[in-house]
Amino acid sequence: MSEPLFSLVDVKKRYGRQVALHVGRLDFYPGKLYTLTGPNGSGKSTLLQIMALLLKPEKGRLVYRGQTVTGAQTQRRRIRQEVTLVHQSAYLFNADVFENLAYGLKLHKVPAGERRSRIAEALEQVGLKDFAQRKAWELSGGEKQRVALARALVLRPKVLLLDEPMASINPEVIPLIEDLIKGVKESSDTIAVMATHDSEQPRRLGAENIQFENGRCQSLQRG
Ligand SMILES: Nc1ncnc2c1ncn2[C@@H]1O[C@H](COP(=O)(O)OP(=O)(O)OP(=O)(O)O)[C@@H](O)[C@H]1O
Ligand SMILES: [Mg+2]
Repeated sequence: MSEPLFSLVDVKKRYGRQVALHVGRLDFYPGKLYTLTGPNGSGKSTLLQIMALLLKPEKGRLVYRGQTVTGAQTQRRRIRQEVTLVHQSAYLFNADVFENLAYGLKLHKVPAGERRSRIAEALEQVGLKDFAQRKAWELSGGEKQRVALARALVLRPKVLLLDEPMASINPEVIPLIEDLIKGVKESSDTIAVMATHDSEQPRRLGAENIQFENGRCQSLQRG
């Protein structure tokens, strides 16, 4: 088996006396899809935020591409270029959809022509082909969620972290989004990690499921 792309070793995060997450060891291998399931408050979002380097655990070690993640800004910046989190509630800027998608690409210094083609492609992928000029504040909850997903896809991340991306998406669109997420593992050097409350989704996606309970987790290998 290849080397893990991302590992967490003995990672612990508390809020006050409450242990939000305690991971013994988790390895994420390239070319694979992972789902996170478990009750409210069991630690799924906490894990995703730690992997996105948005939240610092007080204990433990993250290893990305074989290198221990330290506090060094240059290393963190490089990892953040490759790791993208789509939050549980989609935050869009007060601008049109195109600008929302263009922002990250500009930060990544992608030239204007390529920005336009990638944005058109990502909007088509989430089924919002004609939405580029729509204002973010005029979108429905599910449309916002799909734009937030497109905004992540457009960056072509190596690690795509998704926090309940289907929560307010209507059932007809779910197969489209599931196919899109399945597409991530066709690229052999990327991973997608998705929190979900849909207990059928791990099987439908052919994902390896990580089951959470009170901040502890157990990985359930799939064939
Ligand atoms: N900012 C915070 N301050 C204090 N406690 C927090 C904070 N964020 C999360 N927690 C606590 O950490 C625990 C894990 O929360 P987390 O958001 O990771 O759960 P989750 O599995 O994502 O739940 P859900 O399915 O509801 O999204 C919960 O007990 C939660 O109350
Ligand atoms: Mg959550």
